[in-house]
Amino acid sequence: MLQRPRRLRFNQHIRDMTREVRVSSKSLILPIFIMEGENIKSPIDSLEGHFYYSPDTVFEAVDDTLKHGVNKFLLFGLPTEKDEIGSQSFDENGVIQKAVRMIKERYRDEVFIITDVCMCEYTSHGHCGILDHGYVDNDKTLEYLTQIALSHAAAGADMVAPSDMMDGRVAAIRQALDKHKFINTLIMSYAVKYSSSFYGPFREAAKSAPSFGDRKSYQMDYHNKQEAIKEALLDMNEGADILMVKPALSYLDIISEVSKQSNLPTAAYSVSGEYAMIKAAAKMNLIDEYGVMCETAVSIFRAGADILISYYAKEIAESINKGDIG
Ligand code: PBG
Repeated sequence: MLQRPRRLRFNQHIRDMTREVRVSSKSLILPIFIMEGENIKSPIDSLEGHFYYSPDTVFEAVDDTLKHGVNKFLLFGLPTEKDEIGSQSFDENGVIQKAVRMIKERYRDEVFIITDVCMCEYTSHGHCGILDHGYVDNDKTLEYLTQIALSHAAAGADMVAPSDMMDGRVAAIRQALDKHKFINTLIMSYAVKYSSSFYGPFREAAKSAPSFGDRKSYQMDYHNKQEAIKEALLDMNEGADILMVKPALSYLDIISEVSKQSNLPTAAYSVSGEYAMIKAAAKMNLIDEYGVMCETAVSIFRAGADILISYYAKEIAESINKGDIG
């Protein structure tokens, strides 16, 4: 027999040497939830192992994460007050603005801070924009999104990540950032964000479920792939620096396509429901949590992602450090 594929699997050395996908903890981003207030560290029921922190305690999470070799964070805010227009989202003393300032003051460039730019955690109705007779008004919302992004950049965010799915928001945000001299503040757009049932635990955690209706008039229909390319290329042309696909696991084909068709780095967001499924099945002793976590993380990179946002970021980094993956 001239061809014996098993020779390349003979022992760990040869397997290690010939891995086709290399994974690094430098490509991982950990989401953190910041709650308005002081001295808060309380568990998030829907995201086991995760906590709410207030701006003054978040350094505990940052320190612990840095120990695992992950230094990139995606921040979500929970304000105390919500209103029709999500005023707290662009307030310079809002929870995220405060947290970013405090983190940056303490860690400077040791950490890379990304902020979620959206309104659903801040609006009384829970939609990702400004309502006009129950419909999210695209162009009106853009004015607010640019203000949110600017306030994050002014607080010191390295990168803003608009997750609202309004048309034209990348261009609007880029223009506003440049006008205010934030030319090196990056934009990672949630370019391809599907209307997904996988966001359930996040909406619990962020208290951001819409109070009526759904998000289908702005987030994408999961039957569509052409549309994903359209969205990705639009954001690329509007000046996005990184394109994100979300969720990840049921959308590996989309990650693959977006990474091939654009010339930007592709990020994948392995969302709350993906994390919760693994946690729940492991609790029932149906799967090995560690093994499934490693396998799914690698599969997302294999599909073409360059960056992974995951609630398992620390644990994935640990598995890389141990040499189990990567
Ligand atoms: C805000 C936002 C959502 C997520 C990230 N940013 C929720 C949503 O669109 O309903 C979900 C993340 C997750 O499920 O982990 N628009």
